[in-house]
Amino acid sequence: MKLVITGANSSVGLSLLGRLRGPGDVEVFAIVRSERAAREIAGAGRMHVRVVSYDDADGLAETLTGADCVVHLAGILLEGRGTSYASANVAPAAAVADAAARAGVGHLVLVSVVGADSGSTNRYFRTKGQAERAFAESGVPATIVRTPILLGVGTAGAHAISRTIEAGRARLLGGGRHTMRPLDVDDLCEAIVRICRARPEGVRLLELVGPEPVTYRALLERAATVAGTDVALGSIPVGLAKAGAAVRAALTGSGFTPTVVEVITQDEVVERNADVDLGMTLTPLTETLRRILARGERAT
Ligand SMILES: NC(=O)c1ccc[n+]([C@@H]2O[C@H](COP(=O)([O-])OP(=O)(O)OC[C@H]3O[C@@H](n4cnc5c(N)ncnc54)[C@H](OP(=O)(O)O)[C@@H]3O)[C@@H](O)[C@H]2O)c1
Repeated sequence: MKLVITGANSSVGLSLLGRLRGPGDVEVFAIVRSERAAREIAGAGRMHVRVVSYDDADGLAETLTGADCVVHLAGILLEGRGTSYASANVAPAAAVADAAARAGVGHLVLVSVVGADSGSTNRYFRTKGQAERAFAESGVPATIVRTPILLGVGTAGAHAISRTIEAGRARLLGGGRHTMRPLDVDDLCEAIVRICRARPEGVRLLELVGPEPVTYRALLERAATVAGTDVALGSIPVGLAKAGAAVRAALTGSGFTPTVVEVITQDEVVERNADVDLGMTLTPLTETLRRILARGERAT
């Protein structure tokens, strides 16, 4: 099987590549945007690294030619001075969908987010919904996997938890009362491999979330228990956090905008978890926390 992974240097990409290394029948092509990112990934054996620009339609189509499955991971939550939701969440997805159709790819897989909606008033959820639409309308069999906050090696969610446990204190947006369904990144990677191996049929939308609903406050309290320590949790009203984020973003160009505050305080609710359809047993949340705290996940 020829498998192409875009945004291969993302935290999900690196975990997925780790799972696919070693003997097996999968020929992997890891796509990144820069030589710097390519150096983070050791190509060896059946793993090849390609630096490709999403603006280079021919180069992209050439790399995708003969692929049984293309997994699209490029995307952002935090905008920066040189990158926007349009340029990171929408344009690369549209380019990959077009290239996949031209190249006759067998199956497109998009890692999206719970809450994605092309009609949303929130720009992050809207652009993720637009990426989904590009995949769904590509004419290529496609599976869209909506995910919640991801926890595991290198993930922003794991960094945030480890930082709070290390500091022993935090002020949580809205008191951390929003409900999350944290998913172990290893479980997502297992799901992606299963999806790529399955026979694709039309366009399929899956929502894969972690095994347990939990408020962010309860998640941090559980993490403290796992780490054998205490954590003091205060609260910042969401409205105040949004106002502060708006001022900071205007003054400094910070990517932590009111849009992001809205995203990370949204309840992660799904009607049907895809773990059953995929025949998976999900990692218990406490086990995931044990792993990330044992590694001392830190922001890099
Ligand atoms: N982490 C989560 O909790 C979570 C939750 C739900 C959905 N997701 C989605 O899952 C996917 C992987 O997430 P992640 O957390 O592993 O990502 P990540 O570690 O933040 O990496 C982001 C990836 O997107 C690429 N990228 C950034 N700006 C780009 C642009 N303008 N054009 C093309 N590529 C760009 C980056 O490449 P460079 O290094 O070259 O910038 C990198 O490969 C993303 O689409 C994300 O939105 C993540």
